[in-house]
Amino acid sequence: MTYQISKLRPFGTMIEAQNESSNIQDIKIEILRRLFQKSQLILLRGFNTFKNSDHFSKYCEQWGEVSLWPFGKVLDLVEQKNAKDHIFDNSYVPLHWDGMYRPQIPEYQFFHCVKAPKPQHGGRTTFSNTILALNNISKAWKDHWKKVVGVYQREMEFYNSKVASPIITKHPLRNFFVIRYNEPHLKNKGHLINTPHLKFSGVKLEEVDLFHQSLNKALYNAENFYAHQWQDGDVVIADNFSLLHGREKFKSGSSRHLRRVQVLSHPPYNNPGLETYK
Ligand SMILES: [Fe+2]
Repeated sequence: MTYQISKLRPFGTMIEAQNESSNIQDIKIEILRRLFQKSQLILLRGFNTFKNSDHFSKYCEQWGEVSLWPFGKVLDLVEQKNAKDHIFDNSYVPLHWDGMYRPQIPEYQFFHCVKAPKPQHGGRTTFSNTILALNNISKAWKDHWKKVVGVYQREMEFYNSKVASPIITKHPLRNFFVIRYNEPHLKNKGHLINTPHLKFSGVKLEEVDLFHQSLNKALYNAENFYAHQWQDGDVVIADNFSLLHGREKFKSGSSRHLRRVQVLSHPPYNNPGLETYK
């Protein structure tokens, strides 16, 4: 099988099929895992992928234990009429990490683009590489962020949960630091249904705005930030331990349909910051 590997900017790896019969299953998982560890994000484009949800989750199971939700293994990300949560709305989604409100935090996120929106309709998935963000920032800012702990509370269809996490923490499996941060909603970014409650301790009241601004600037800096424009059939595998992710808003009624599966690390990583979970 032939495929071409190239770098995405500023991070990530793109693997493109070179003929129409190339199947995603034919690429060895060990090769992909190595690229994943090196670049934190893999885009597979142009391959024959998955006929349905079940087929998709079966593929992901080859990578490790799939995280189980009340709805099953596969989340369909499609705009819902009268959505009760921003995830199912057409709004932007602030940066966060998956599983932050759940007992276990997945290492891998798999996205399969069943149907891409037209490019002019928005809806890119956003990724901030926090390893790069910490490498590209001064020690003074790092020292400032190190003092802060985020306390997040969120109630939605699948949980009601409270979690506390230092802004800078050690990567659960590897010997470097990452940022864990749920970006507060800013009204100038548009509406957001069912916003979580956020508090940040360890920073003086008069310095809170500056704290968020500095973090925001670093996370969205072009050196550290990648926004993925979907094409039909794209598969993206993202490192949920090192990246934060979100979404840009998209035109209501556009055809955007993604499927998402989360895969746990081996052994599974228990959420260290979970205070309450219902
Ligand atoms: Fe997410």
